[in-house]
Amino acid sequence: MAEDVFQKLADLQREIEGAQPETAEALEAFRIKYLGSKGLLKEVFRWIKDVPPEKKRDFGKQANALKQAAQAHYEALKSRIEAGRERETGLKGDLSAPGPPIPLGARHPLAIVTNRIIHIFTKLGFAIAEDREIEDDWHNFTAMNTPENHPARDMQDTYYLRDFPEMLLRTHTSSVQARTMTRQKPPIRIIAPGRVYRNETISARAHAQFHQVEGLYVDKNVSFADLKQTLFFFAREMYGEKTRIRLRPSYFPFTEPSAEMDVSCFICDAKGCNICKYTGWVEILGCGMVDPAVLENVGIDPDEYSGFAFGMGIERQAMLLYKINDIRLFFENDARFLKQFTSAF
Ligand code: DAH
Repeated sequence: MAEDVFQKLADLQREIEGAQPETAEALEAFRIKYLGSKGLLKEVFRWIKDVPPEKKRDFGKQANALKQAAQAHYEALKSRIEAGRERETGLKGDLSAPGPPIPLGARHPLAIVTNRIIHIFTKLGFAIAEDREIEDDWHNFTAMNTPENHPARDMQDTYYLRDFPEMLLRTHTSSVQARTMTRQKPPIRIIAPGRVYRNETISARAHAQFHQVEGLYVDKNVSFADLKQTLFFFAREMYGEKTRIRLRPSYFPFTEPSAEMDVSCFICDAKGCNICKYTGWVEILGCGMVDPAVLENVGIDPDEYSGFAFGMGIERQAMLLYKINDIRLFFENDARFLKQFTSAF
């Protein structure tokens, strides 16, 4: 009985070594027959029960050696068939191998943060308004209650176009408020994301180009309570359920009253850290009730309508959310930086 099994093993070896498939199909049939998950070489290990105890060890060794030899024979046949095909067709390599993975791109972190903000305000019924980056003086400043020689123009160092002194690169997305209100009658409920420019010395904290999202809501009876509730909703959606907000009185030419909004520091849970400078609060945006003078400038009757507005920087929020310490990274297109960001947005 035992002799039989050793004999069978030797026969199988001869059979395998003698097999010389010449096509890829024949080679695959060889692989399935001998090396496959239901192949003969699996079967061999079941014969061991017929081997007397003192010979089991020997048999196991031989069976393993045969398995390895069969694998080596298969690899050699495969290279030979591939080499033949290469000679005939010029196609190199293992054509049955899966293709190399296609690297997936990543969204820019500013796009991720902007899309999140848009998503939140879309839930409240805000529509997206986009407009030009090369703007005229009137929409950027004058309509927004910042006439020439108004001291507030100093807050924003402006790039004017050399050959067109009335034209400039918009210093804020507030210009889209003027664009929208001159085009459309209330009710108006928009957010305006986009790029803005200021003549700033470039450093880790400041850049000459950056991004903002503007918000504007004009209708009958819009109140400061509406503003506060809208921003509170935004803060919780953006920074988490437990986020608190606080509004500090401030000044902007186009709103009255004006405020700056802080959110409770989401990095340290308002316990105090170097990001919130141990105050527990981080500043996120400027806001206020649309100044009646602005409504008048764009032909909306301030006795009939009122509105609120807000504007926020994107880079600052992205830096806080992702703990990025240099604003220049956003504009350098270094793939090592960019590929770290993944998002559903
Ligand atoms: N435009 C302001 C800036 O760039 C931000 C801002 C403040 C926008 C208050 C607003 C607002 O709409 O109401 O600094």
